[in-house]
Amino acid sequence: MPRIPDPTAGDTGWFVHDRFGLFIHWGIYALPARHEWVKNREKIRDEDYQTYFDHFYPDLYDPQVWAREAKNAGIKYFVVTSKHHDGFCLWDSALTDYKATNTPWGQDVLRPMVDAFRAEDFKVGFYHSLIDWHHPKFPIDGLHPMRDDVEFREVQKDRDVRKYAAYLHGQTHELLTQFGKLDVMWFDFSYADRDWGWSRGKGKDDWQSEKLLAMVRELQPGILVDDRMGIGGDFKTPEQYQPRGWLEVDGQPVVWEACQTLNGSWGYDRDNLDWKPVDMLVRMLVDTVSKGGNLLLNVGPNARGEFEPRAIERLRGIGEWMRLHSRSIYGCTASEFSPPPDCRYTQSGNRLYLHLFAWPFRHVHLDGLADRVEYAQLLNDGSEIKRHVIDPHQQAQNTTMGGTPGALTLEVPVQKPDVAVPVIELFLKE
Ligand code: GLC
Repeated sequence: MPRIPDPTAGDTGWFVHDRFGLFIHWGIYALPARHEWVKNREKIRDEDYQTYFDHFYPDLYDPQVWAREAKNAGIKYFVVTSKHHDGFCLWDSALTDYKATNTPWGQDVLRPMVDAFRAEDFKVGFYHSLIDWHHPKFPIDGLHPMRDDVEFREVQKDRDVRKYAAYLHGQTHELLTQFGKLDVMWFDFSYADRDWGWSRGKGKDDWQSEKLLAMVRELQPGILVDDRMGIGGDFKTPEQYQPRGWLEVDGQPVVWEACQTLNGSWGYDRDNLDWKPVDMLVRMLVDTVSKGGNLLLNVGPNARGEFEPRAIERLRGIGEWMRLHSRSIYGCTASEFSPPPDCRYTQSGNRLYLHLFAWPFRHVHLDGLADRVEYAQLLNDGSEIKRHVIDPHQQAQNTTMGGTPGALTLEVPVQKPDVAVPVIELFLKE
């Protein structure tokens, strides 16, 4: 039997079916194009960071194009940064002037995005930064861009985090009440364990997480909340690594979502060349689902409001694979069977999907499946794959291979099918 995590307050049903989401990191950090943490990394003062606000003019922005690209990639839900750590807000918040509507572009960029993705049947989520490097009441700590300016720290030492929390709660209220039904709220992040001597990290007590979560649940029943507020949540969020197996808490499997980048950066990062190839991205998606998780794959649109060619190429490559293979992803989860080396299984009911990360020479042996399979086919073209059960007593010699008790042997063509990851669909006997 497949493992099923215990229910949480949120509605995880659609989430564990859809499996594949798009993360969008967009904000004025797209202008410097040096990672979304540029303000922190380069210790940029507000006065200097203002130049990106003053030049924000994404004239090619068309969220319908984004939604179509995502849909063609086989993606089912999206999570966009309503605000990142730099504090810039994509929507017309009544609680700040630091928002898209006050830039030269002069328009809310969040609402048209939500509308465009909803029109293509996407579920909708907001990533909202708990951290804020612009807000005047956010106490300076060791992650703040002004951390090394001792004089500034001294002048600003009376900042009251409770006043910032009121702003955080107020903006969350706006997001939860002004955009219709939301499916995911992705808060980021808590770091209460950090201690720089002169300052400490922030966590649930600073954000007033319990109260914030209660408001979220009340305003949007069923919404899924991530686990980065310091008080747990509906799903776990491994970032920039692939877990070795199904994520567990106290020995119990939990709902989880790996978040991954195309090139190591979340925000647009022009000179970063760590682009993952399409076949690696497909393998990451498969690997995730084979361990019972979801993949939230990020794109960082540029300052003119486009997905850059390198991102589009990858989304389309994934889409080509998904067109032929999405039934090994949607509605699938970890299998009860253990796959052979270099392979991953996913399973949905009596359909077992064998993903071959390395193409073998002519045979692949599936332990435990000798009498379990009624039919097998390559998924990319629906062509039969012949099955053999080799006499377990047979010794390997000259031109005959040896048998293994309980194993099913599949006979595959010498030529690897021309797809990123070939999949063999196995119809299990009831
Ligand atoms: C992080 C980073 C960040 C990114 C995110 C995505 O914690 O601070 O820039 O938005 O996680 O998971």
